[in-house]
Amino acid sequence: MKIELEVNGKKRELNIEPRRTLADALREDLGLTGTHLGCEHGVCGACTVILDGKAVRSCLMFAAQCGGREVRTVESLAADDGTPHPLQAAFVAEHGLQCGFCTPGFLMLVTAALEGDPDIVEDEERLRELLTSNLCRCTGYEGIRRAVVRAAGDMKAFS
Ligand code: FES
Ligand code: FES
Repeated sequence: MKIELEVNGKKRELNIEPRRTLADALREDLGLTGTHLGCEHGVCGACTVILDGKAVRSCLMFAAQCGGREVRTVESLAADDGTPHPLQAAFVAEHGLQCGFCTPGFLMLVTAALEGDPDIVEDEERLRELLTSNLCRCTGYEGIRRAVVRAAGDMKAFS
């Protein structure tokens, strides 16, 4: 089947089998391999992308469900000249990653959260609950939490 969708601000057309997941369509049909696949059954969050402004597990969605919709992947975060997004810079500054496998999923989870409610960082419990959505087996989460708080401050300062 053919679908049209917007990916990272560009119209894209896909000719896919109905069973193709959004994650596979992004990675294999569109070459956007920044979206990682871990568990492939909705647990780890490594595959998180933003669909119409909301963070979703792309391994749990069919690409066919995304016709006419807007998808953002981790490739959309840095500026065209390669300057990292404030959240990416904060992950580096606060040691929010080690192996980096989970990082694209966390970046998209947190981007959607901060865009929807930048004040989430003021509420320790809500922020910790948000971060439990995704699995990281390297960092112990503390660097990720600090990175989100730092990025929220940086993003406010530049808005
Ligand atoms: S790969 Fe999608 S949730 Fe783990
Ligand atoms: S940095 Fe390795 S799994 Fe998170």
